[in-house]
Amino acid sequence: MARQTSEVESVDAPKYAALSRDIEECKREPGTTLDMLHAVQRHFGYLEPQAVGMVAEALGLTKAQLYGVATFYTMFFFEPKPPVIARVCVNLSCHLRGAQEILHTLEEAAKEQHDAFEVEEVMCLGLCEQAPALLVNEEAVGQVSAEEALEKVQASVAGSSS
Ligand code: FES
Repeated sequence: MARQTSEVESVDAPKYAALSRDIEECKREPGTTLDMLHAVQRHFGYLEPQAVGMVAEALGLTKAQLYGVATFYTMFFFEPKPPVIARVCVNLSCHLRGAQEILHTLEEAAKEQHDAFEVEEVMCLGLCEQAPALLVNEEAVGQVSAEEALEKVQASVAGSSS
């Protein structure tokens, strides 16, 4: 059964409150539009429309203007994502050191776990000397086997649901 609007609002109330504090903090400095959008994504996992509306109001802009800014960047999400995203480098150094096995292992596990996490292929993370490398959310992980990469992702998934 779908949640009622008031139920959703009460579940998300702490996130809106935290965002409100972040917006107030950012408003003290000029040029913090991206910081505010990052705050929305940090609290909601994507650019949640009502939260973007709060930023728009604080900046005296429209939501359309803010989405116009956000679409310029690849790091913003416009739909909900799982709390954990594994970005596996498939560029040459990592490819030669087992990136495809890591990618395959993580993709299979994500399917088995009904998309508890998301797997993305990326080009060079700047961690070539630690190949094969991946990012688990913001954390860089290098010189790992496929099994170790999966353990790292599983730990992050477990941490995000506790
Ligand atoms: S080639 Fe994988 S981090 Fe550079």
